[in-house]
Amino acid sequence: MAAEMRFIISACFFLMLFSYGAAYDPLDPNGNITIKWDIMSWTADGYVATVTMHNFQMYRHIISPGWTLGWTWAKKEVIWSMVGAQTTEQGDCSKFKGNIPHCCKRNPTVVDLLPGVPYNQQYANCCKGGVVSSWGQDPESAISAFQVSVGLAGTSNKTVKLPKNFTLLGPGPGYTCGPARVVPSTNFLTADRRRKTQALMTWNVTCTYSQFLARKNPSCCVSFSSFYNETITPCPTCACGCQNKNSCVKSDSKILNMVGINTPRKDNTPLLQCTHHMCPVRVHWHVKLNYKDYWRVKISITNFNYRMNYTLWSLAVQHPNLNNVTQVFSFNYKPLLPYESINDTGMFYGMKFYNDLLMEAGPLGNVQSEVLLQKDKNTFTFKQGWAFPRKVYFNGDECMLPPPDTYPYLPNSAYRKLLSFSTLISVVLFVFIAIW
Ligand SMILES: *[C@@H]1O[C@H](CO)[C@@H](O)[C@H](O)[C@H]1NC(C)=O
Ligand SMILES: *[C@@H]1O[C@H](CO)[C@@H](O)[C@H](O)[C@H]1NC(C)=O
Ligand SMILES: *[C@@H]1O[C@H](CO)[C@@H](O)[C@H](O)[C@H]1NC(C)=O
Ligand SMILES: *[C@@H]1O[C@H](CO)[C@@H](O)[C@H](O)[C@H]1NC(C)=O
Ligand SMILES: *[C@@H]1O[C@H](CO)[C@@H](O)[C@H](O)[C@H]1NC(C)=O
Ligand SMILES: *[C@@H]1O[C@H](CO)[C@@H](O)[C@H](O)[C@H]1NC(C)=O
Ligand SMILES: *[C@@H]1O[C@H](CO)[C@@H](O)[C@H](O)[C@H]1NC(C)=O
Ligand SMILES: *[C@@H]1O[C@H](CO)[C@@H](O)[C@H](O)[C@H]1NC(C)=O
Repeated sequence: MAAEMRFIISACFFLMLFSYGAAYDPLDPNGNITIKWDIMSWTADGYVATVTMHNFQMYRHIISPGWTLGWTWAKKEVIWSMVGAQTTEQGDCSKFKGNIPHCCKRNPTVVDLLPGVPYNQQYANCCKGGVVSSWGQDPESAISAFQVSVGLAGTSNKTVKLPKNFTLLGPGPGYTCGPARVVPSTNFLTADRRRKTQALMTWNVTCTYSQFLARKNPSCCVSFSSFYNETITPCPTCACGCQNKNSCVKSDSKILNMVGINTPRKDNTPLLQCTHHMCPVRVHWHVKLNYKDYWRVKISITNFNYRMNYTLWSLAVQHPNLNNVTQVFSFNYKPLLPYESINDTGMFYGMKFYNDLLMEAGPLGNVQSEVLLQKDKNTFTFKQGWAFPRKVYFNGDECMLPPPDTYPYLPNSAYRKLLSFSTLISVVLFVFIAIW
């Protein structure tokens, strides 16, 4: 019945997805990036605001080359100056004599500064090249901030107009931002924590991620194996689309000895190793050992992109036995509780200075771990592919799993028969839900 339940739940998610039209990640339903504007002072012709970006997503971080934030001014505002970030274009400031604004565009595009800029251009939590950690991995670095001085704008909370049409690249597409909303003003504590101050006005913008908007194809796939069946279930063929098939490189190619072959491109085009799945990343889940009260899984992640190092990679996994993780070797593990009562999801990530960097494709391009799980006598089974994960995400993008009828199964199990029965029930249920 578990399969049917799961089907009903996913059918509901499916319906929710389409009825709300908003991005929704079932493993991280509250995940979002919130951009907060705190007006710290009014000026003669506008205001000075601190803009803070919090990444509340549990396992989706913003990798290099970092975020790009855009918006449209409501009136004819200009940016006099910025600290800790810059706009990519100044725009037409020819109207101005004397003081020239930093940016005169109606729809400025802002990027973070690079590490190591002079001290007077820095701002707290700025200057990380737009790289922002995920909340689950490192909440202290899940933040990015800059200061902006706005002119030709309202000079009180009655006359100020909120910017509109926020856009966020992180670094690629996928995020959709809602409208700015005035919220209760932020309180700040002084460094000695003895005095509380308050922003003059605060508004928030919330952005959510959708993999459908980000890319047409998955960017990772999953393969399976087990001690009880020698079949290795590979990633589905062309799991990540086969667009790069013509430019891929065989792992023994002489081209790989050329200098600069690994240098990333400006537009981040990958250089993939030729595989039948054509994915930049493969996650392999091996059911390794069976003890009386425990069982052991080996997880390996392999990079097939010669032009990409994945820093601070993350792996989110859903499996019913993750409520009883006993030990995780050489990765960090953190349970995620998207629905309070169901403890079946967790995130794995690398250990600092040891394996938090998944190196470019080649002999060093993989990381591995083993996980020891305690069996729950009521649910544990090797039958029906139960020992394999239900969902796998690498760096916040869902990986393609092999089709269920190809999972390694126990010799002589009645798996196929059960599967076709559950497929039948699923179809009936789907028709039922669709009509209803
Ligand atoms: C954004 O995420 C935070 C933290 O998970 C949550 O408290 C907040 O309600 C979310 N905001 C929206 C609009 O979903
Ligand atoms: C506004 O965003 C901040 C984080 O930047 C968050 O702490 C606060 O709860 C948000 N307020 C509302 C009303 O969503
Ligand atoms: C504007 O500021 C006044 C006090 O200066 C306050 O009473 C009022 O609630 C504020 N309005 C908004 C929309 O923040
Ligand atoms: C919103 O911003 C996007 C990208 O900057 C732009 O293409 C679009 O025309 C803008 N829409 C409005 C209504 O300003
Ligand atoms: C990956 O990191 C290694 C070691 O830091 C470096 O030598 C290599 O050039 C990097 N590769 C890419 C594609 O950035
Ligand atoms: C969830 O499972 C983990 C072990 O995998 C355990 O440490 C944690 O306490 C569980 N949390 C809840 C709320 O049951
Ligand atoms: C872990 O498994 C043991 C044995 O089946 C069970 O007693 C315990 O409640 C389980 N822990 C959780 C958090 O489900
Ligand atoms: C192993 O699993 C495969 C399905 O992936 C199946 O075709 C094969 O018969 C199984 N091997 C044995 C010995 O049962």
